[in-house]
Amino acid sequence: MSEIELRQRLEELRRQIAYHNYRYHVLDQPVVSDYEYDQLFLELRQIEAQRPEWITTDSPTQRTGAPPAEKFEKVRHPAPILSLGNAFTVEDVYAWLERIAKVDERALEADFVVEPKLDGLSVVLHYRQGVFVQGATRGDGDVGEDITDNLRTIKALPLRIPVTDDRRLTTGRAPSPVRYPPSYLVVRGEAFMRLSDFTELNRRLEASGEKTYVNPRNTAAGALRQLDSSLTAQRPLTLLVYQIVSWDDSFPTTSTLQRPLSNLQPPTSNLHPLTSQSETIAYLRALGFPTPESTCCANLDEVIAVYRAWAEKRDDLDYEIDGMVIKINDLQLASNLGVVGKDPRGTIAFKFPAREVITRLLDIGVNVGRTGVLTPYAILDPVEVGGVVVRQATLHNFDYIFEKDIRIRDCVRIKRAGDVIPYVIGPLEAARTGDQWPYSPPETCPACDQPVERIQGEVAWYCVNAACPAQLVRNIEHFVSRGAMDIVGLGIRIVEQLAEEGLVGDVADLYTLERSDLLGLEGFAEKKADNLLEAIAASRGQPLSRLLAALGIHGVGEVVAADLARHYRSLDTLAQTTLEELQTIEGIGPNIARAIVDWFEQPANQRVLDKLCAAGIWPREQASVVGRPSSSPLAGLTFVVTGVLSGFTRQEAEEFIRSHGGKAAGSVSKNTDYLVAGEKAGSKLGKAQQLGVTVIGEAELRELARSS
Ligand code: IVH
Repeated sequence: MSEIELRQRLEELRRQIAYHNYRYHVLDQPVVSDYEYDQLFLELRQIEAQRPEWITTDSPTQRTGAPPAEKFEKVRHPAPILSLGNAFTVEDVYAWLERIAKVDERALEADFVVEPKLDGLSVVLHYRQGVFVQGATRGDGDVGEDITDNLRTIKALPLRIPVTDDRRLTTGRAPSPVRYPPSYLVVRGEAFMRLSDFTELNRRLEASGEKTYVNPRNTAAGALRQLDSSLTAQRPLTLLVYQIVSWDDSFPTTSTLQRPLSNLQPPTSNLHPLTSQSETIAYLRALGFPTPESTCCANLDEVIAVYRAWAEKRDDLDYEIDGMVIKINDLQLASNLGVVGKDPRGTIAFKFPAREVITRLLDIGVNVGRTGVLTPYAILDPVEVGGVVVRQATLHNFDYIFEKDIRIRDCVRIKRAGDVIPYVIGPLEAARTGDQWPYSPPETCPACDQPVERIQGEVAWYCVNAACPAQLVRNIEHFVSRGAMDIVGLGIRIVEQLAEEGLVGDVADLYTLERSDLLGLEGFAEKKADNLLEAIAASRGQPLSRLLAALGIHGVGEVVAADLARHYRSLDTLAQTTLEELQTIEGIGPNIARAIVDWFEQPANQRVLDKLCAAGIWPREQASVVGRPSSSPLAGLTFVVTGVLSGFTRQEAEEFIRSHGGKAAGSVSKNTDYLVAGEKAGSKLGKAQQLGVTVIGEAELRELARSS
């Protein structure tokens, strides 16, 4: 490909990627598969790797975060970023109209536009020659902070406008009189986190023992204020844009200015050719911005009907709104009405009833999650919040209770939003009567009464008992999984059935199951029962390393398990070991060593071991097998691991490869022998296919490590 062709291809790829990104993140109507998208992305990355000097800040590859900044630069807004006055009742709304009609009586005849009021953070976005060049927080309304790199990670934010030149491809009508943006355009919008993304993020954090976030708004605020934008990129934020702050067509078209733009004076002109808010929204939409749903109303009665309709569906939305914004549609009239303080007269927020209430905290309960994490929750004097009776609320973690000084029998403030579990905002200290007392977390697990443990560096407390009924299903699921005892056909449904029927109380009970036990279960015919018993019997031959990995000791994955097996050779010796000895093994630090010793010390775990031993599950590693040269069956082979594997994390798979003598590389090239691909494999899979590299799964990787 000639230089010019390569350059053209690069531009074409960027256009296509931006377009598919828009279809996915703005319209929610993708037209290509993830695989096809990844292919385009991969090709673009390859060209940019060849020609790094062609990388520009508006390239889709630049959304993953820039090098960390020392501090945020200040940015002066081209026009004041105003705030809003509030109305709480229908009467307030009519009073607002009367008030402003005194300033300009045309308000009485005006049309309105009604938009949801998103509960996020106001952001100001600058586009020079259609390219996103700067983004700022609202700050005090006059000066904000430069968070350009953080904003660039938001996939719904167009890096270049218009996103697409093809009118048929945009939703909404391209409005007259303009189609292309001016040479300098500044818009305002709201950045926020979807409730489903918030819940999912917290679920992940909780599972790994990290601190969970209190609410979507704080999470979004924290993400936007990260000095390291690669951290922002890990927090899924989205955006809606609803206002033009500044419009300037006189900005030099041949400007060669480069960032930082903080000291660049943005234009101050605000004379844009759009005459109404509805036209503005249609225009922003045509440029490719995500915009809020906005409804035109001829009078306040219609406005109130729209408000009520949104109040009804508020609980079903995937984002939090705290009211509706009512705007005089005619921008000229709105501007003529002027500003009081920081609030424009022509716009008002009609708030929904707050979903915060005060009630009494009767007690604090503790849940044990499937991963063993203990989570405290508030047991409340039942109280109604927005039509729903709330009896319980989350307290996040034990530190939260102490940081907020929440005491039993305190009056507490509760917040409920959408389908997200209500949470305790904090206590009303002024309402204390002396009848309140501090809370102390349990020393034993509420489900099994075994001691709980805190892992250093993590905020969570864990129950680490292998036989804890609250974790039984998860423990068995892990025990039988492919990287562990590998009991084929024992899926989660069956594990649940076995636990529900009381047929297994810990993992050792699997080995004493009988045919008659299984035949009593729903959906079990003779063949299925026999197959399962056979699979269980087959797992008796698994080596010690597998059994160790199967026990679910915190920090003991396949690699550590293999090291332990090699070092101790039997469970009897490992059970007697000390912290000091464990730490002489490479890869085992104080935290894992402590977790191992604690695990073996627990009587409940000792009982499980006794039962395993009695059932004959007591493998020993043969000295002759250990350390033989054939422990390098993968020598000379280069692997790349991609996607989500079920039995390994990516690092574990890589360590597994290295511990068997292979090489684990980061990217696919013609020197790669095998790509180990899990679910959701993306661009690496595409590249491997392109280069004809053999693609295998994790089972085949294990096979290779065993067979050669
Ligand atoms: S208009 C002068 N429209 O609510 C115009 N604001 O409580 C002022 N907000 O600071 C803003 N959704 O951050 C407008 N559709 C919407 C909005 C909206 C959310 C935020 C905005 C503002 C705050 C005021």
